[in-house]
Formats: sequence, structure tokens, C-alpha cells
Amino acid sequence: MRVVIVTLLAFLGLTTGTSYEGFKVYKVLPKTELQNAYLQELESSPDFDFWSKLNKVGAPVVIMVAPNVQKAFESYLTRHEIEFELTIENVERTIQAEKSYHTTRQARKSTGITFDHYLRHDEINAYLTQLAQTNPSLVTVETIGQSYQNRSMNLIRISSGTTNPPKPVIFIDAGIHAREWIAPALALYVINQLVENPENSNLSKDIDWIILPSVNPDGYEYTWTTNRLWRKTISPGLVCDGCDANRNFDFHWMESGASNWECSDTYAGKKAFSEIETQNLKNYLLKTPNIEAYITLHSYGQYLLYPWGYIDKLCDNWKELDQLGHDMDKAISAVNGTTYTIGGSTATLYAAAGASDDWSMGVRNVSIVYTWELPGGGTYGFDLPPERIEGVVKESFEGVKVLANFVAKNR
Ligand code: ARG
Ligand code: ZN
Repeated sequence: MRVVIVTLLAFLGLTTGTSYEGFKVYKVLPKTELQNAYLQELESSPDFDFWSKLNKVGAPVVIMVAPNVQKAFESYLTRHEIEFELTIENVERTIQAEKSYHTTRQARKSTGITFDHYLRHDEINAYLTQLAQTNPSLVTVETIGQSYQNRSMNLIRISSGTTNPPKPVIFIDAGIHAREWIAPALALYVINQLVENPENSNLSKDIDWIILPSVNPDGYEYTWTTNRLWRKTISPGLVCDGCDANRNFDFHWMESGASNWECSDTYAGKKAFSEIETQNLKNYLLKTPNIEAYITLHSYGQYLLYPWGYIDKLCDNWKELDQLGHDMDKAISAVNGTTYTIGGSTATLYAAAGASDDWSMGVRNVSIVYTWELPGGGTYGFDLPPERIEGVVKESFEGVKVLANFVAKNR
């Protein structure tokens, strides 16, 4: 609507130097021929600017009305029982707001990322590259491989100061499930805070961070272009495409909570690591030393889940993970009151074998492992509205800090 107004005003040649202070816009609905005729009488007066043409009975017209005649206008309509609605209180204010929205958006664009909208895959990678260029001593960006459709799977390594002795690494991935958009958004926020907010420099003093914001870029782009609720990868099948990458890891693969039916949303793939994306991730994890914590970001449900997920049994250090989970929850909930359920994957949510969390602990021997289910929202739960991104990522970052401090002290 605002765009329409500004465009219309520009079209009428009215924007330059003219102020619309106090001008109001009404939507008016003539329901009879007579009412239509009454409105027609106003059309010739310069005090009434018809933004849409007076058409036929039953079609609303939009009229901008100068301040000095608003009272008379309203009583004229009331007298003739013409239905109306005020749509813009003050046109000038609307124009100014639109302008400043664009300028701040523009200004921010040049300095980097904002968390008022979700990013496309290319934008995510562009942000990582930009950080590597502007912070070469702190940041390196590495491609761990290409997706099935040949998109670069890029991760960022944030590492300050000396590497001797090596620091414990916190590894975070996101977006293994395509539709869970808030997950990559949080990964990016963590990156943003660690690299671009000097207040958080202490968090990379004793820890190295490796963050892969988009494990399933093909699926992610597919949710932008074709099907907002797509979860799987995009590798072609016989009947249906895609595989649930979080059922595709080679640790008790297909033993529980996974399907061998291609069209299922939890299809585990033809075999373990059938997907190039999970292969790329696993190869990277196997060759990377010192990973002490592995966090995989999902949505939704507000859970912090620790292994095991393939069986209803808790991992050996579950008490430590349970305590840390509660500490993270405490820090998160202190921000806006968002609370989490903490527990073993299977008992708390459901059994599901072949997920990245179990594999990291069971095969890669990482001891601090969580599947983090972020808050939901929107119509489907996965489509958390952009206005809520900032609130969620900010509160969640408090949990990330608690995790970081724990790892720095105890690993
Ligand atoms: N919502 C996640 C999924 O379905 C939960 C995974 C929990 N971990 C597990 N190993 N079951 O993939
Ligand atoms: Zn998920």
C-alpha cells in the first residue's frame, strides 16, 4: 500500500516540495447509484484527490482529503449514508516513514546483515565471504563440498589468537531440514555476534567456532521457490525426490523412526550417506580435531535434546547434558520468558535413528551434543514471521553463551 501511495504521488508530480501534513485517506463504498452521484460531485474539487477511479456501485474508491475539508467530507458521507473507512491518518507521516525505512535499510545493507528478514542461500554465502574479507585474522571460510544441485556448502571458522595449545571447538550446523528457516537465521546471528560485536570477543578467546549455516541448500532454496514446507534434500528418486538428511547418517541407520519409502518425509535414503550433503558434513567432521560440542539447529518445539535418539536409552554423560541444558534454558528464558523442555531425544520427542546428533556422539565421539529445536510460529510452525527473528535469535544467543562458557571451563 505504501509503495502504491508513493508511486501514485510521484506519478501525479506531487511529491517534490509538497507536504501532505494532515491529509487523510479514506476508502469509500458507494452502494447505490445516488451515492455514486454524490461522490461524483466531489471529483471536480481540488480538495479531493481520487486515488482510484469512481467506478460502479459496490466498488470502493480511495480518496485523499485535504485537512480543511475533512470534517465537512465526513458529515457529507454520513448524511448520505455512504459507508467509509479511514485508511491513512496522515499521508505526510506515511511518506516520511517509507523514506526512512528505505534509507536505514540501505544504510544497513552496506554495513552488513540485519535480522528482520530471512536470507537466500547466495546471501548467506555472500555474508560469510564478506566477513572473511573484513576480518582476515579472525575468520576463515571454507567450502566443504557442493550440494547435489551444485551449491557451495560453506562454513565459517572463527578462531582468534594462538592455536597452540589447540582450543576446544564448538561446531554448529543448521538447515539440515529445509523449511526450518529460523535455524540458519540463528546460525548467522551467532556468527554475526562472534565476529562483529566486540562485546562478545571473550567468547572466542578460549574456544574456536565452526558454523555451517546451511546443510541442505538445495532444499532450502526449494522452500523459497516452490514448496515452503519442504523438509528433505532434493536428490531425485524413482517416485518421489529427496531424503531426510537427518535420517541418513551411518549410526544405527534405519533402526527406528525412519522410513524406507521414498515419499515419506523421514525417508532415510537408499543407504547411509546416500546424500552428498551428509557425506560432505561427515567427511569434514572426521578430519577436524578438537570438536568438543556439536549443536544441530532445528525448529520447532523449544526442546534441547541430547542422545540417544535411535533408542530409548540415555547417553553416558546425560546428567551433565541435562544440567547444562537447564542452565541454557534459564539464560534463554530470562530474556523473553521462552522456556525449553530438556531431555533425551527418544523419550522427550520420538525415536529417530540416523540423525547427525547420534552420529556425532556415537561415531565422532563428541561429548556435548544437542539437537536444538527453536520456537515455532506463523501458520505452519516453520514459518516464524520475520518480525520475530530478532527476538528468537537474541534470546537463543544467551543460551549459546552459557554453552560456550561451559565448554571453555570444562573441556
Ligand atoms: N526433529 C528432529 C528430527 O526429526 C529431532 C531429532 C532428534 N534426534 C534424534 N536422533 N532423534 O530430525
Ligand atoms: Zn528439523
